[in-house]
Amino acid sequence: MARTAVKITEEEKNRQKDFIREIRELPQRPQTYHVVTYGCQMNAHDSEKIAGMLEEMGMKEAAVREEADFVIFNTCCVRDNAERRALGNVTWLKEVRKTHPNLMIAVCGCMIQEPGMAEKILKQYRFIDLAFGTANLHRFPELMYSALNSDRNVVQVADEDVIAEGLPVRRQRTDAAYLTIMYGCDNFCSFCIVPYVRGRERSREPEDILREAEELQKTGVKEIMLLGQNVNSYGKSLSCPMSFAGLLRRLEQLGIPRIRFMTSHPKDLSDELIETMSGSSHILPQFHLPVQSGNDEILQKMNRHYTREKYLERVHKLREAVPGIGLSTDIIVGFPGETEAQFEDTLSLVEEVRYDGAFTFIYSPRVGTRAAAMDHQVPDEVAGERIKRLISLQEELQKETLRRFIGMKEEVLVEGLSRRSEEAVSGKGRHAVSVTLPGNLGDVGQIVSCRITGVRNNTLIAERIGDEE
Ligand code: SAH
Ligand code: SF4
Ligand code: F3S
Repeated sequence: MARTAVKITEEEKNRQKDFIREIRELPQRPQTYHVVTYGCQMNAHDSEKIAGMLEEMGMKEAAVREEADFVIFNTCCVRDNAERRALGNVTWLKEVRKTHPNLMIAVCGCMIQEPGMAEKILKQYRFIDLAFGTANLHRFPELMYSALNSDRNVVQVADEDVIAEGLPVRRQRTDAAYLTIMYGCDNFCSFCIVPYVRGRERSREPEDILREAEELQKTGVKEIMLLGQNVNSYGKSLSCPMSFAGLLRRLEQLGIPRIRFMTSHPKDLSDELIETMSGSSHILPQFHLPVQSGNDEILQKMNRHYTREKYLERVHKLREAVPGIGLSTDIIVGFPGETEAQFEDTLSLVEEVRYDGAFTFIYSPRVGTRAAAMDHQVPDEVAGERIKRLISLQEELQKETLRRFIGMKEEVLVEGLSRRSEEAVSGKGRHAVSVTLPGNLGDVGQIVSCRITGVRNNTLIAERIGDEE
């Protein structure tokens, strides 16, 4: 059950600040750092906090990891390949140490929070100086201080579901910002390890969220991305409960041009939220709504608490309320016991919904989850063949689906130069689809008006138009 989470105390915050000050003064401390991030936006934002703390310790960012005195890997363990990639890179860095003997290596994030992983790290990877889990993020200064003052590796994995307000942040972008509204997850989808490594669901107080949003607005941020594993269930754990739609309405009043959020769970997608989106000009007309499977039996075994019919009904309602809404999803193929016919239900759902984008994954068993112990694990070749069919269907449909934008006016928050041309820039439109348009570096961080003229793969092509059009 969701419960009121404890915020870290002022005393604890000050204790960590003291460690930051101590580290600053240490002669043997690293001078430069590099953060390597795997996984989802949660991790990306945690990395911004790690960088924020490192900067306060007096370190400067190194552009590449080979040049840094301190390298920290913020890991993901949602699928086996994410985990293997992280460990491979950590091991590779051991080689770098041969020419850079003072190099300090740290590993943190979801993987460390896995049961038994900390011990494994201690035994197998003795060259790692510091390891800590997601629940210890706010104690990073203290752990760093211990690691700098010890010959042994420092490992700490806690199991506290705290909320850490006020950590320093060094944001990657100045025009768009992540804003966490809740931590953890209580859904226990049977395939998923996230509830085990991110702890119980806990929501931040609306006042803390609004304060952070206001601060971001003052710095000129044009878009905020609200983060949570299941933002639709925001507020249940507050002493004074508030719905996600209620929070959105309050945030909207601030007047930040663009508000986005992820991720949403279909079971908690309320009519209130749909209505709130329908009347809003600041909440972007886009929705990431992971379906995972199009078959009811599989959905039930996944513990998703909705049927195909219920999901389609929600999609229909969203589209009715927010015409043209950009819709994306996550899909897993090869869940234990998935038959060819059940997989075909997923294909037919994809055909029926017509997503603007889909992230597709082969099911990966995660130790400790219910699905990992289920019978009839699908052979790799079968799952591999299914995902190919799914991807090719989605690509084919997506080309068609995105054509609906042709001729439409769109506003793009420009992220950078296009990879294909020096005279083009790209960014996300209001519907969260990538758009490429003529432009230069001066456009980065600006909202530019354009008209969509074509589709190339999963990107829209546009021409610029004046604001008066
Ligand atoms: N909280 C989010 C997503 C978390 S993980 C949500 O509920 O939608 C992101 C995606 O990874 C999931 O939507 C799912 O499609 C995929 N995923 C999670 N565990 C997986 C596993 N064991 N194997 C394959 N894909 C998985
Ligand atoms: Fe994992 Fe399900 Fe929670 Fe998403 S909602 S993080 S898929 S358990
Ligand atoms: Fe991975 Fe952790 Fe996110 S397991 S997907 S980084 S919450």
